[in-house]
Amino acid sequence: MGAALEIRNLHVTVEDQPILKGVNLIVRQGEIHALMGPNGSGKSTLSNTIMGHPAYEVTAGQIIFDGVDILEMEPDERSRRGLFMAFQYPVAIPGVTVANFLRNALNARRRMTNPEDKGIPIPAFRKLMIEKMDMLRMDHEFAGRYLNDGFSGGEKKRAEILQMAVLEPQIAIMDETDSGLDIDALRVVSEGVTTLYGPNLGVLVITHYQRILNYIKPQFVHIMMDGQIVESGGPELALHLEEQGYDWLREKQNGSGK
Ligand SMILES: Nc1ncnc2c1ncn2[C@@H]1O[C@H](COP(=O)(O)OP(=O)(O)OP(=O)(O)O)[C@@H](O)[C@H]1O
Ligand SMILES: [Mg+2]
Repeated sequence: MGAALEIRNLHVTVEDQPILKGVNLIVRQGEIHALMGPNGSGKSTLSNTIMGHPAYEVTAGQIIFDGVDILEMEPDERSRRGLFMAFQYPVAIPGVTVANFLRNALNARRRMTNPEDKGIPIPAFRKLMIEKMDMLRMDHEFAGRYLNDGFSGGEKKRAEILQMAVLEPQIAIMDETDSGLDIDALRVVSEGVTTLYGPNLGVLVITHYQRILNYIKPQFVHIMMDGQIVESGGPELALHLEEQGYDWLREKQNGSGK
């Protein structure tokens, strides 16, 4: 049995405002899920809460990762355990190269499974980076750039995908909603996820653009409205949304007396 991320009846408030109102979702290793929904429905609130952003207060429910409740864990620990999150607004870290950043992150992750781990030797790390960059067809020069410093949208995405390739998380959450998805960034994310995807990786892609799903092929599509997942289905659900918008769902919600 692979690892799973299980969200159970999750209620979240931001500045005392209820935003998530009972979210249930299970993402397993080897599955690609897409979470869609209109602006402000709570998608980023869900991803921020999963990663442990302090502004998001969980008032009820659980988040279980690999059989363990992670709600009390710091964001770092969640990521060391193999939960990966591509941030919607990545920050620049001046003076830290992509390679150094990734080596630290990898060593932290290795120490999680073995506290005695002395860290990956530099030559082995170089070899690993080159292997991963080749796999993703990235220029080797990229490893020497300062993280996110003056990065284009596409380069930020490249750094994220490379991080995912090096850390080999069990579950990755990609919040692509507002990240200024120019064509380059869209291509990097789609090709990266497609290349890295396999039985050991589960992905939750958050977007309200149908077009990203033309590249990343989810097996499951969920629609969030007003803090709840109101509809789940297969890839056809995303196509239906593209044709019909969200109105039919709003009507369905109203019809059910919500
Ligand atoms: N840090 C925050 N501070 C204040 N309000 C917030 C914060 N984060 C989220 N909210 C509020 O929570 C609601 C849901 O926002 P959220 O960003 O989760 O929506 P979203 O579904 O990701 O939207 P989009 O498609 O635009 O990315 C909005 O009303 C938003 O203003
Ligand atoms: Mg968002």
